[in-house]
Amino acid sequence: MTRTLTRSADPQPAIGERLRARLDAQLAARRIAPARHLSADPAPQPLPALEAAQLRIPADYRDAVADHPAVVAWVQTIAESATAPYAGDRHAQYGQAGRREIRTGPSLLLWGPTGTGKTRQAFGAIRSLTAAGCAVRWHAVKAADLYGQLRSQNTDTEAVLRHAMRVPVLVLDDLGAAKWSEWKEEVTFRVLAWRGEHHLPTLVTTNLPPAPQPGAGTQQLLRNAVGDRVLSRLSGMCTAVELTGPDRRYSHR
Ligand SMILES: Nc1ncnc2c1ncn2[C@@H]1O[C@H](COP(=O)(O)OP(=O)(O)OP(=O)(O)O)[C@@H](O)[C@H]1O
Ligand SMILES: [Mg+2]
Repeated sequence: MTRTLTRSADPQPAIGERLRARLDAQLAARRIAPARHLSADPAPQPLPALEAAQLRIPADYRDAVADHPAVVAWVQTIAESATAPYAGDRHAQYGQAGRREIRTGPSLLLWGPTGTGKTRQAFGAIRSLTAAGCAVRWHAVKAADLYGQLRSQNTDTEAVLRHAMRVPVLVLDDLGAAKWSEWKEEVTFRVLAWRGEHHLPTLVTTNLPPAPQPGAGTQQLLRNAVGDRVLSRLSGMCTAVELTGPDRRYSHR
């Protein structure tokens, strides 16, 4: 028997009401939304780079602006040295260059008392770099959290360490705040040594002065907290920038 398919002027529903009700009940039992509801959802839109970066920035720093002159200059240097992949003569045949990517650049050590805005300047710098149109692959981590992740049983610790070493821009926050140990020195040294040798831009923040301050009397120095080898790497790769002023956490209230 041959069936003739005719085009109906009034399209028939693909499935009958009773069958749809049965399907819906089965989907509901499996906690799956029926496709006709899902199709009403707006299609996911690609987030612009700045918005995507915003989502990874802690809420307290999402409106951060890097306005310290040394940080502004650092952002400018990094942004200017960002290069597009295959932009060189050797790869000219591959056509138009891609988005500029941050590859190498100088590093900063932001130091000063608590609440003077070091972390805020660091996140402000990340926001500025993104707003400047650079593709920024970045990672921000408190030193204590990095050590915690590296101690975790459930993590691929070499991958965590490799990421901190190789990510194009690293913010290593609050260095020297945690109780020190030989193991922490080794980990910090590995991260900084790699980054220093490969000229990977790194923003380090700390409460401790990297060198004795005139007239400051006896004070805890960064060297005492992180050891000679780490301090030597920091000195070799970073420009030290002091942030001064009152603790802004109090002035916020
Ligand atoms: N220029 C600024 N304008 C407005 N708020 C600011 C500014 N700088 C810092 N703050 C706010 O002050 C608080 C302290 O800043 P931040 O966390 O950056 O200090 P910090 O120097 O990193 O402190 P700590 O040494 O304790 O880590 C935060 O809530 C931050 O958002
Ligand atoms: Mg901080």
